[in-house]
Amino acid sequence: MSRTLKLNNGHQIPIVGLGTYKSPPGDVQRAVKDAIDCGYRHIDCAWFYENEVEVGEGIHEKFSDGTIKRDDIFITSKLWNNFHAKNKVVPMLKESLEKLKLDYVDLYLIHWPMGFKESSPLLPINEGASAYSDVDYLETWEGMEECVNLGLAKSIGLSNFNSEQVDRVFKNCKIKPVINQVEVNPNINQKKLIEFCKKREIVVTAFCPLGRSNYAGRPGFPTPTIFDPKVVDIGKKYNKTAAQVVLNYLVSLGISVIPKSVTKSRIAENINIFDFQLSDEEIAYLNSCNKNQRCSPQTDYADHKYFPFNIEF
Ligand SMILES: NC(=O)c1ccc[n+]([C@@H]2O[C@H](COP(=O)([O-])OP(=O)(O)OC[C@H]3O[C@@H](n4cnc5c(N)ncnc54)[C@H](OP(=O)(O)O)[C@@H]3O)[C@@H](O)[C@H]2O)c1
Repeated sequence: MSRTLKLNNGHQIPIVGLGTYKSPPGDVQRAVKDAIDCGYRHIDCAWFYENEVEVGEGIHEKFSDGTIKRDDIFITSKLWNNFHAKNKVVPMLKESLEKLKLDYVDLYLIHWPMGFKESSPLLPINEGASAYSDVDYLETWEGMEECVNLGLAKSIGLSNFNSEQVDRVFKNCKIKPVINQVEVNPNINQKKLIEFCKKREIVVTAFCPLGRSNYAGRPGFPTPTIFDPKVVDIGKKYNKTAAQVVLNYLVSLGISVIPKSVTKSRIAENINIFDFQLSDEEIAYLNSCNKNQRCSPQTDYADHKYFPFNIEF
């Protein structure tokens, strides 16, 4: 039985989900099946990840062999930045559903608050403001609401929205966002944003919960806390790995986590995090690691009208 958090519309989200960004076709289908076999009931997908077909195949194999039924599993997808115009939202979700071979997603998110022109590259780096669209994400949100009204998404939410942007949607919506999916790991523990969202009954989901360990060593990139010898030592006390310590810590903040892995042993490890409790001292140490350093800063778009990281949180 996977553990869940209650959303503001009564639906439940399993606390641990499988991330799929950069999970290559060829690996991701097997990773999804391994995850479901290990007890995961939550898969985090996105149109932008270009692997929703394979993710869907993995899920469908687990329907066919009787391990799960559709309503046992929570599937998220996300609307990419080039498609923020209201009339693009439903068609883009339909495209993801077709790839995943599903009738609905449990959660559809606006991937980022800033939009790009439909004709721009998916990541218009060094193209400047001419690549941006100024579609207001409130317009996009109306398209998201239509997805719920058509039965294509059970819930809708935000991703990478700062507190002011969350509040603006919250105050101008007909259907409330249930989630804000943002980067959270001990290097950026987001306590203020989590508290802000909690007051509005919005659950935070942590992406890059392991600090995207595969980027370690890149210049300017924060060293993931799973490589901190003190965190490794804390793990030894509980017969756990540093990754399990970090995930346990994040879950203790009242949020859900979506660690990505295509490695079966790690997939199993990352959900086996509920049978130990860190001491106050250990939690204080993990709190002290916070330096508000992101592994996904997206500074190429810092001049966009809706860039989210120009304010404190
Ligand atoms: N909304 C957004 O804008 C956004 C942005 C980024 C990510 N996301 C979502 O969040 C998910 C997670 O973020 P992420 O993939 O960037 O980073 P992450 O989950 O923090 O780190 C993934 C890396 O950690 C490795 N890893 C996994 N488990 C491990 C363990 N137990 N011990 C040591 N290393 C381990 C993985 O390697 P292997 O796969 O080789 O095992 C992979 O290289 C994404 O996959 C995606 O679904 C959303």
